[in-house]
Amino acid sequence: MVRCGGGRRVLLVGFLVLAPAYVGFALAQAPTGRGAAAQQPRVYANMLQVMRGVLYPASNVIFTAQSDDPAAFKPATRPSTSSDPFTSAYGGWEAVENSGLALAEAANLLVIPRACGNGKPAPIQNADWQMWVQELRDAGVAAYKAGQAKDQDVILEAADAVATACLHCHTKYRNVPGGIPNRC
Ligand code: HEC
Repeated sequence: MVRCGGGRRVLLVGFLVLAPAYVGFALAQAPTGRGAAAQQPRVYANMLQVMRGVLYPASNVIFTAQSDDPAAFKPATRPSTSSDPFTSAYGGWEAVENSGLALAEAANLLVIPRACGNGKPAPIQNADWQMWVQELRDAGVAAYKAGQAKDQDVILEAADAVATACLHCHTKYRNVPGGIPNRC
């Protein structure tokens, strides 16, 4: 009995000490609670790094789907850790869908102020830059729809639209004499 009563007292003291701490913790976790700063986009990569890290791998999935039937890929031995989207847990035509969406979303990264690889600010305010960003968005959505349709003819058209969007912007801003120091 004594031990039992003592146990209860410890529990009560524990509750009194921990309850306010718990309430404070819960408030701190509240997403819109006072003191929680609203998240803003933050930049970590220059334009060259965004191209290599985000646009390049996503577009390669779409380009591959032109020649290799996405439905013919066999899932990897461990799909959940496969580094090839086609053989991953979200493989086949779903990989095409996801890569189309990735490109459409990546277009947003091209209108956030950031430097080019040479340190100059990227010309995101230029009318032609904006036009080609829109072209990339549209092409990404077209690839997404081709993935949904699971149709090799539709993906041929969508992949062509993606390649054209890349090419248009690169012709002016990337493919310049002297390379990286003179780009953007
Ligand atoms: C709105 C303009 C724009 C669009 C659209 C665009 N790019 Fe780029 N891309 C650039 C610029 C500018 C550079 C050079 C960046 C630098 O040097 O800082 C570049 C560079 C690259 C590079 C790096 C080349 C190197 O020297 O290593 C790759 C890869 C690339 N782009 C892939 C793509 C692909 C794939 C697409 C289409 C899915 C695409 N880009 C669409 C503007 C664009």
